[in-house]
Amino acid sequence: MAKEKPDAAEKTFTLTNDETGDSVKLPVVEGTCGPPVIDVRKLYAETGHFTFDPSFTATGSCKSRLTYIDGEEGILMHRGYTIEELTEKSSFLEVAYLLLYGDLPNKAEKEKFDHSITTHTMVHEQINYFYRGFRRDAHPMAIMCGIVGGLSAFYHDSLDIWDPQQRELSAHRLIAKIPTLAAMTYKYSIGQPFMYPRNDLNFAENFLYMCFALPAEPYKVNPVLANAMDKIFILHADHEQNASTSTVRLAGSSQANPFACIASGIASLWGPSHGGANQAVLEMLDEIGTKENIPEFIKRAKDKDDPFRLMGFGHRVYKNRDPRAEVLKSAADEVLADLGVNDPMLEIAMELEKIALEDPYFVERKLFPNVDFYSGIILRAMGFPTSMFTVLFALARTVGWISQWKEMIEEPSLRIGRPRQLYTGPAERPYVPIEKRK
Ligand code: SDX
Repeated sequence: MAKEKPDAAEKTFTLTNDETGDSVKLPVVEGTCGPPVIDVRKLYAETGHFTFDPSFTATGSCKSRLTYIDGEEGILMHRGYTIEELTEKSSFLEVAYLLLYGDLPNKAEKEKFDHSITTHTMVHEQINYFYRGFRRDAHPMAIMCGIVGGLSAFYHDSLDIWDPQQRELSAHRLIAKIPTLAAMTYKYSIGQPFMYPRNDLNFAENFLYMCFALPAEPYKVNPVLANAMDKIFILHADHEQNASTSTVRLAGSSQANPFACIASGIASLWGPSHGGANQAVLEMLDEIGTKENIPEFIKRAKDKDDPFRLMGFGHRVYKNRDPRAEVLKSAADEVLADLGVNDPMLEIAMELEKIALEDPYFVERKLFPNVDFYSGIILRAMGFPTSMFTVLFALARTVGWISQWKEMIEEPSLRIGRPRQLYTGPAERPYVPIEKRK
């Protein structure tokens, strides 16, 4: 655990006001690994100054034990286990347990956890009627925002955030029910009946079954797709304090119930700069159409006057490689080969990656494929429409969101998050009656 209060021997930073010569000594706090932080909590009280970091590029918002990212080295670890090992040797539900409880489960713990998740996959029958209120062509993320927020209208017995049992029940309900709601959202969009979950299938198999089975005939889940689905979920499970996780934490800091907090995370993830990028990548590859068109789009991506960006490229933290993109790229080859799919999109994507990574603009800015670049190609090959890609991201990230929320609520020093600002509006001025306005 990082030391909260430095003792005399601890490191400090001294900040000096060059105008007045006044200075303040600020404690430096070190974690297990990664950059140390300067604790600025007493800065305003002692200097009358706020810090200023509008998009939080240099701001640590919390302590956390869940996930560590090293942007320079391209490292992603969950509770000390690398993403490469977890995708190769673990399963999504085991990673969910790891994020929620801190260690890999033993056999009995895993069976108990898997059973709890499996037996919470059904949703209240009344929830089916929510869907009827949406247009069939509603964006699936619009439906998910609404329905997940509405879950707090059903599960009154797990809304007390100060009761550990109720926190755990909410966490299990969300991890278990969001795949069911996601599958129902997909079925609703294509006019097919909802498929109830099956307790004899594992997490990924059950999700694919609920999406692609029909009541009219038996359906066997393709084990290659189930394995790829589970791997994709692991890769999207948690990612430190990204935009949607920070949204969930800020919502949770006001003591909002966990269902409302996860709905806020879904809303934030939807943006094309964040989780919505996986849909935007496929739409971009569609727009590019052929390898011959790639140079024109690279040119547009570099043009400051053109809002076009190379979707699936760049990352706030990773400045050398996104380890998840590499796993997804090899998974894409496997799935397409197994399905016998020869998707020209993959060819265009690989050519685009090759050209971009040789272009000084991208090299200088350290822009290269992120987690969203290859995921869409696999999901499309699996039969999902692009509009469902971010829903699948949200399904997996629910595990990270609720684990981060649980960690925050369990912190002894939970306080409402309340950033300040630099005010640049008008100074005080008298009210002008309308007849005197110009
Ligand atoms: C996710 O934070 C997370 O962990 C997120 C995530 C997670 O798991 O939660 O990893 C998931 O959101 C991945 C990112 C998916 N988004 C996209 O693929 C959209 C395209 N990428 C960009 O919008 C952008 O790269 C961001 C949003 C990902 C990062 O934005 P930053 O860190 O604010 O970087 P920036 O916008 O300041 O860009 C720095 C420079 C700028 O040029 P200059 O002003 O320095 O000349 O790089 C350029 C940008 O114009 N740039 C791009 C670009 N991304 C950045 N130029 C062209 N195409 C791009 N994709």
